[in-house]
Amino acid sequence: MTPELPPALREYLRLSRVALAIATADDDNHLLAVSDRFSALTGYAPEDVVGRNCRMLQRSAANEEPRSRLREFLGNPRQENVRTSIVNFRKDGTPFVNLLYMSRLRALDGTARYIFASQFDVSRSQPDLLSDYDDELGRTLGRLTPIAGDAGIVVEGTLLTIANSAATVAQAKMMLASLEYDHSA
Ligand SMILES: Cc1cc2nc3c(=O)[nH]c(=O)nc-3n(C[C@H](O)[C@H](O)[C@H](O)COP(=O)(O)O)c2cc1C
Repeated sequence: MTPELPPALREYLRLSRVALAIATADDDNHLLAVSDRFSALTGYAPEDVVGRNCRMLQRSAANEEPRSRLREFLGNPRQENVRTSIVNFRKDGTPFVNLLYMSRLRALDGTARYIFASQFDVSRSQPDLLSDYDDELGRTLGRLTPIAGDAGIVVEGTLLTIANSAATVAQAKMMLASLEYDHSA
């Protein structure tokens, strides 16, 4: 059984400056909590998504390559984190390319307790905004470390920063344009 999220951790996550989601490390990774920024980004309130797997954001998009990268991470306890662009849809049906980051929160004995994730709309962004987001996510993880530590939880994985934000944003914009073209055809 997954323990409840410690209250201090839940509150910190909720008010974070970036979109965040926390899921169980087992049981099909159903969501335990999402931040206010997650709701602002996706249009889904916590009560719409808690208890469900976040793949619901993908709707009918194939996303084969990114999904296999995410499954690889989830299936390999030694892989510290993963970062990939993936097509998602907001609650109102608008598509976006989500730059998804995932890592683990572990108990002191090393067992994975939660999966931590952050989302960013890279298809409606700019290279400098992506760098700002990266910095903010790094700070969020840094501040999370002592708060989680007080609850006996270890934050794993140093952030894999985006090496080329201009290329990442350009690629996401192309992905979004081809999706919108497919939908309008
Ligand atoms: C905490 C957490 C947050 C996630 N957030 C997203 C997300 O925002 N968008 C998305 O497409 N997938 C997200 N995923 C990934 C999917 O839930 C799922 O793991 C992925 O689609 C691969 O598995 P599948 O092929 O069985 O769907 C998240 C997973 C976890 C554990």
